[in-house]
Amino acid sequence: MKNSWRCLVLLLGGLSAATRSAGQFAPLITNIDARTSTSLNGPWQVIVDPYDVGAIDYRAQPLKGNGAFYKNYKPKSKSDLVEYDFDTSGQLNVPGDWNTQRDSLLFYEGSLWYKRSFNYTKAPQKRVFVHFGAANYRAYVYLNGEKLGEHIGGFTPFDFEITDRLRAEGNFLVVRVNNTRGKDEVPTVNTDWWNYGGITRPVTLVEVPETFIQDYKVQLRKGSTNQIDGWVQLNGPQRQQTVSVRIPETGLSKTLQTDPEGHAAFSFEANLTLWSPGNPKLYTVEIVSETDKVTDQIGFRSISVRGTDILLNGRPIFLRGISVHEEAPTRPGRAWSEDDARVLLGWAKELGCNFVRLAHYPHNEAMIRMADRMGVLVWEEVPVYWTIQWENPETLRNAENQLNQLITRDHNRAALIIYSVANETPIGDARNRFLRQLIEEAHSSDPTRLVSAALQAVEKESGGRLLIQINDPIADALDVMGNNEYIGWYSHSIADLDRTDWTSKYDKPLIMSEFGGDALFGYHGDAQARFTEEYQASLYGHQLAMLKRIPFLRGMTPWILKDFRSPRRTLPKIEDYFNRKGLVSDRGEKKKAFFVLQEFYGEKEKSTTP
Ligand code: GCU
Repeated sequence: MKNSWRCLVLLLGGLSAATRSAGQFAPLITNIDARTSTSLNGPWQVIVDPYDVGAIDYRAQPLKGNGAFYKNYKPKSKSDLVEYDFDTSGQLNVPGDWNTQRDSLLFYEGSLWYKRSFNYTKAPQKRVFVHFGAANYRAYVYLNGEKLGEHIGGFTPFDFEITDRLRAEGNFLVVRVNNTRGKDEVPTVNTDWWNYGGITRPVTLVEVPETFIQDYKVQLRKGSTNQIDGWVQLNGPQRQQTVSVRIPETGLSKTLQTDPEGHAAFSFEANLTLWSPGNPKLYTVEIVSETDKVTDQIGFRSISVRGTDILLNGRPIFLRGISVHEEAPTRPGRAWSEDDARVLLGWAKELGCNFVRLAHYPHNEAMIRMADRMGVLVWEEVPVYWTIQWENPETLRNAENQLNQLITRDHNRAALIIYSVANETPIGDARNRFLRQLIEEAHSSDPTRLVSAALQAVEKESGGRLLIQINDPIADALDVMGNNEYIGWYSHSIADLDRTDWTSKYDKPLIMSEFGGDALFGYHGDAQARFTEEYQASLYGHQLAMLKRIPFLRGMTPWILKDFRSPRRTLPKIEDYFNRKGLVSDRGEKKKAFFVLQEFYGEKEKSTTP
């Protein structure tokens, strides 16, 4: 784990409760589902507040009095002027985006306040944190009328300590979520996905001992199939403890002593059944300290590159993938649950996939844990998308924070093999510097995984051939090159695919991270007719034939598994605010191209499986 992020985590771990919660989120507690916890999911009271009247006065100054919605103030008498009331303002479900829960909120961007009342009896000598899986985009969190802190970034978890602020009865947790887009944000103002707002992932009260196991890493060393490296981080007053890491099924157990900062690193040999798509073996791993115990399901596999090969457990692998947005499979809106993950990954497996690209932002934890269980390798990404403010240090810090929060949440997931730091970003000095910084951050925060980015190659005509070369300057810092191309859709014709050749300036593996075209399910015509299933199927046929000819291609994630909502897609009766490049429609219907890719992956699997 990179020192700067580790120092921040340790610093937060040692601070007293009062100073710890002053406007700063607490160190991320990992593996929430394995902790003693209480779910706050369900209906929450909400107030839609487009003008932020619950936060600022008419002079745009922060409200401090009872008019501030986080006070949840009730009139004391008939002459008391109070112009808001959570309890009569309606409800929305948490987790869930607000856009698909009320027609009036489909396009809504702005602030929306949530309130959840609860009673809580804390056990003695315990600490309590409130944990959010995610909230898009900015979350301002209050408990019992006092600010706990803020979080920026719509796709990563955060938590606050509430031990000293809890009451036995009548607690009220208030969250103002604002999804207004901003030029200096990550992502910035322009995306080809719906800006779903709200508390989009589970909210949980987590109860832990005074000194608890905040985080740990237990994974194979990079490129090794039998050396486990890892560490344990305690949080609390009693930081120097004896801790053991056990894999009961194997009888393996390692005992360590944590240092004055509550940290201990370890390394030991272990001959384990390696995790792979064909055999997603997970081991029960126990982390036991003198005051706490956490159990996790962890797979052990090695991932590395050698020249243009990607090696899984030391052997070359071809990544038969598909790109996926975090939209629920069978209902509108954001996905968040195990069932959502099971259906989406089920479709990917039906296609013949052993890999998915979770685009363009960190998806929910249920998805990556389901990938661990179902044996699907994963590319995860931070939303450094298109043209963000490369010169702005705050924007860089924001991107780094999102990357490190993702790494902290998922660094024990065997399925996760690639971090992507960017998608379709314009080459330039400031951008190159920005991305090199992120690549360095990913490598040092988690040296066991590969780093990539979705680049855009350059093309030229020569002798009747369309020559495309990957020569993006930042590719020299990547382990794996990703590339997006839309030949036959945004540029050129389908037939041009048959005369297209690819080269690369780098001796590195390539994943074609996007290609494809739109089709409306059930809309038929000849293969030259845009938006028909026949056009999309033909495009796939020619794309796959071209891809077969690329000598350094080691994977692909066509765009995209399922039609998804996009504010950029306005064509009536065809798009209707959906990007229609899915192989499955927004109602779960499979298009002709689904079967073209399925057949290709079937053959590929046969030809690459030893
Ligand atoms: C881009 C982009 C996607 C987008 C896709 C499309 O390459 O990365 O986010 O949805 O193209 O245009 O369909």
